[in-house]
Amino acid sequence: MKVSVRRSGTASGIDTFEVPAVKGRWTVMDVLDYIALNIDPSLGYYRHSVCNQGICGRCGVKVNGKAALACTSKVQEEELLLEPRSGKVIRDLIVEP
Ligand code: FES
Repeated sequence: MKVSVRRSGTASGIDTFEVPAVKGRWTVMDVLDYIALNIDPSLGYYRHSVCNQGICGRCGVKVNGKAALACTSKVQEEELLLEPRSGKVIRDLIVEP
């Protein structure tokens, strides 16, 4: 699966990764974890250090233009564009609470 991530501090503003995500099984957080653990550890996002249950809202991102919680949103699309949610971006997908 092709996953594009809007990032701060890169020349293009978007980095693209190939991730072996399984539609309907992997969450967006699983995709981000895969990228951080296997491809680019510098990716900025809220890891599972928060609730991971759809409660705290810290993992909010835009998935193909729609607001979603990364920890509870299952991947359903063939391609993903992940962007920071509205607000002041600190780095990549991390936004001020
Ligand atoms: S980690 Fe708390 S809502 Fe996703």
